Amino acid sequence: MANIVCIGAGYVGGPTMAVMAQNCPHHRIVVVDINEARIAAWRSEHLPIYEPGLDEVIRAVRGENLLFSTEVDRHIAEADIIFVSVNTPTKMFGQGAGRAADLQHWEKTARQIVRNATTPKIVVEKSTLPVRTAEAMEHILNSNDKGLHFDVVSNPEFLAEGTAIRDMQTPDRVLIGAHHTPSGRKALEAIVEIYANWVPRERIITTNLWSSELSKLTANAFLAQRISSINAISALCEQTEADVTEVAHAIGMDSRIGPKFLRASVGFGGSCLQKDILNLVYLCEYYGLPEVAHYWEQVVRMNEYQEARFVSNMMSAMFNTVAGKRIALLGAAFKAHTSDTRESPALAVCRALLDERAAVVLSDPHALENARADLGDQAAQVIFELDPYAAAGGAYAIAVLTEWPQFADLDYEAIFKSMVKPAFIFDGRDILDHQRLFDIGFNVYAIGKPPLAHFTSSVPGPS
Ligand code: UDX
Ligand code: UDX
Repeated sequence: MANIVCIGAGYVGGPTMAVMAQNCPHHRIVVVDINEARIAAWRSEHLPIYEPGLDEVIRAVRGENLLFSTEVDRHIAEADIIFVSVNTPTKMFGQGAGRAADLQHWEKTARQIVRNATTPKIVVEKSTLPVRTAEAMEHILNSNDKGLHFDVVSNPEFLAEGTAIRDMQTPDRVLIGAHHTPSGRKALEAIVEIYANWVPRERIITTNLWSSELSKLTANAFLAQRISSINAISALCEQTEADVTEVAHAIGMDSRIGPKFLRASVGFGGSCLQKDILNLVYLCEYYGLPEVAHYWEQVVRMNEYQEARFVSNMMSAMFNTVAGKRIALLGAAFKAHTSDTRESPALAVCRALLDERAAVVLSDPHALENARADLGDQAAQVIFELDPYAAAGGAYAIAVLTEWPQFADLDYEAIFKSMVKPAFIFDGRDILDHQRLFDIGFNVYAIGKPPLAHFTSSVPGPS
């Protein structure tokens, strides 16, 4: 039996350790966090995050071999293996502001480990970190005067929110990086052994530390790049009467390109993609590679352009003014099946419409609470409405901003009747039946598709 501790009970730490506990009944796992409310929620019936399948797993293992605690120091002292999944947001001050990763929580955690340790430990980087972070961590951990040796292993997380349990249960691959030294190899083998309880060996990849750290940033950069690429093409589709769904299907059938992650949208969001690319950009600049930095930065710029373009399209369709108009935004989460609103394009659109003085009504089945918190002062100007029908009633326009499947199944005839005419619908996720909506009477604008409008607005926009 190993004593495993995970520091950070967030979107990554909670689900990851729950699945690990389920598959390793012989190990004792404690998830610790400094946030008392969060730990209390993990211990309660109302978990702090919404994730399909999570409740069942937690019910099966909580109180058995999975514990949640705020006693960080005590559990560090008892641990053999410590996974660290504290947050590493984009740094918002000083050198590298707006790009570099803010490693203050990580460094604090490393120092806390040293302070409380009485035995050697394996420290596992679960958080996404800049390549070569382990070097700094090793210096901090191994500069102790207790004669203790710490091994740092990188084991980046590839789970996506909304499918976290499935991703962790049957991962495409598990990546584990460590130094090619005898002690590094032993540490690596200990982590491999944990995953081998449920992941086939051929899916567990082992690399050197730096490759592992960099692979995580690269994977997220490639995923984001695919979305920005198809979104760039969506803009061209709208000008040429090509249909981006057809183009994505046609290129995705090429086995070299593949069909996944080619859904054009209002933009990508979430706590990872943008943060990790910006971090990659910063690293490239740091290592004197401005051309490489510029190349990756364009992926983020294209995403910002896509969000801004969506709002511009709404404005120009609606006679270049939305001031005072009720607009129903369907979706606040950054993607379906999560309550997470971090970097959500839905909130970017919401803010832009508030700037235009629209009367925004925000509807989402799981994310309204987080949306309210994220919007800060601007939340006071927004109506939060769980029921999409109530949100759409009396609205001039609807915009679908999260791909919740239930938004595709609404009774749009009833909705149309309840709206101000001419009624507009903007599909930021291309999940609706556009021809049907047009036949009902809507003016339909979707990403990367020719508009289906009953008239063309020729009101000039601001120059
Ligand atoms: C994770 C990763 O750690 C991050 O690097 C990755 O890029 C995104 O996913 P996530 O689980 O989404 O982060 O973050 P969050 O939900 O904010 O959880 C982090 C937790 O760490 C918080 O509950 C916070 O209270 C806790 N924390 C932070 C500590 O327990 N100690 C600290 O010193 C700092
Ligand atoms: C991502 C990575 O997928 C995961 O491997 C990593 O561990 C964490 O970061 P996540 O942010 O949870 O996961 O969501 P993801 O499924 O990657 O979606 C990110 C954003 O891209 C969402 O806003 C989503 O709606 C959008 N998206 C995704 C598209 O717009 N089009 C697509 O084809 C796919």
